[in-house]
Amino acid sequence: MAILSPSILSADFKKLGDEIQIIDQAGAEYIHVDVMDGMFVPSISYGMPVIKSIRESTKKVFDVHLMIEEPIRYIEEFVKSGADIITVHVEACQDVVATIEKIREYNIRAAITLNPETPVSAIEPYLPLVDMVLVMSVHPGFGGQKFIPESIEKIRKVKELLVEKNLDNVDIEIDGGINIENLVSVLEAGANVIVAGSAVFRGDAADNVKKFKEVMAAW
Ligand code: DX5
Ligand code: ZN
Repeated sequence: MAILSPSILSADFKKLGDEIQIIDQAGAEYIHVDVMDGMFVPSISYGMPVIKSIRESTKKVFDVHLMIEEPIRYIEEFVKSGADIITVHVEACQDVVATIEKIREYNIRAAITLNPETPVSAIEPYLPLVDMVLVMSVHPGFGGQKFIPESIEKIRKVKELLVEKNLDNVDIEIDGGINIENLVSVLEAGANVIVAGSAVFRGDAADNVKKFKEVMAAW
């Protein structure tokens, strides 16, 4: 069954620990942690001290999405803060291979991602080196944006390449604008790790997680 990774960017930060426990108990498998540096993306979110502190509120997998320039500089610190998966942007790394190798050094999972305007060919050389590919279905920087429909084709393309290269064990994550209505279309295209921020935390988070998991179970 597909995995749900709620993005806590849309959570209520004054009760972040409680919000995480709610989605944990409701059945979310991962916690998606969006880190923004105000350089790679226009906005700034949160960093290591916050991750370290919320690490105590759940045992679930911390899926850390680094929207930062030259993430290689901070891999060790994010690992120490509690990251289980680190995703880096192909556009943000001068040396993509060294960055992925750095993540692997710590025996955690490595993932590569690409912006909506970046072609899949840009990540193709790195597919044999990663555990997961994240397809961005909005321009990174903010939660609550509209899903870019062309992302469906991009997921298909990544899936095709993975099958072609015998890398079927590599996960495909989709991030940005996912809701109950478009969930099946991204599952159909080949995504198996689903990020959802506003669609989970707007309203009753436990109920929203359960609805997502129901659709995934039925699919
Ligand atoms: C965008 C982030 C996403 C975002 C998802 O820069 O990477 O993870 O928070 O939020 P929604 O699901 O609201 O688009
Ligand atoms: Zn994200």
